[in-house]
Amino acid sequence: MPRVLVLNGPNLGRLGSREPDVYGSQDLAALRTLLAAEAGDDVEVEVRQTDDEAELIHWLHEAVDAATPVILNPAAFTHYSYGLRDAAALVTKAGIPLVEVHISNPHAREEFRHRSVISGIATGVIAGFGFDSYVLALDAVRRATPTG
Ligand code: DQA
Repeated sequence: MPRVLVLNGPNLGRLGSREPDVYGSQDLAALRTLLAAEAGDDVEVEVRQTDDEAELIHWLHEAVDAATPVILNPAAFTHYSYGLRDAAALVTKAGIPLVEVHISNPHAREEFRHRSVISGIATGVIAGFGFDSYVLALDAVRRATPTG
């Protein structure tokens, strides 16, 4: 069965209690349930979260080696991590889809969130639709993946 990695960066393990006015009141377990329901039987969705930049980079290396499409919410790393950008570029340069997602719309927020160092190497970007950003990204990945 084709697999999709859904990788989440720092502080997203706090979903549910973290700024619910911005990120909603559902937690990561709810995201897992939502995406599993959307995926159905034809794709395996694996949702992970880390606060550790190195771990996130290693997961992207894993995606390259296994040719696994990625849905990536880089969280705050979006705005400054060139290490993460370089790792994400390995994915898309290998011809594997990588969709950058955000729960909120960073462009409607503080100025420092307007810049993403990831978007330039992502296959595409979806932001501002709450957890539906991930659902839309899953659909985009399926459309972009011949087997998906
Ligand atoms: C976020 C937006 C980022 O600016 C922020 O640092 C996050 C979450 C989002 O999903 O809206 O942690 O990526």
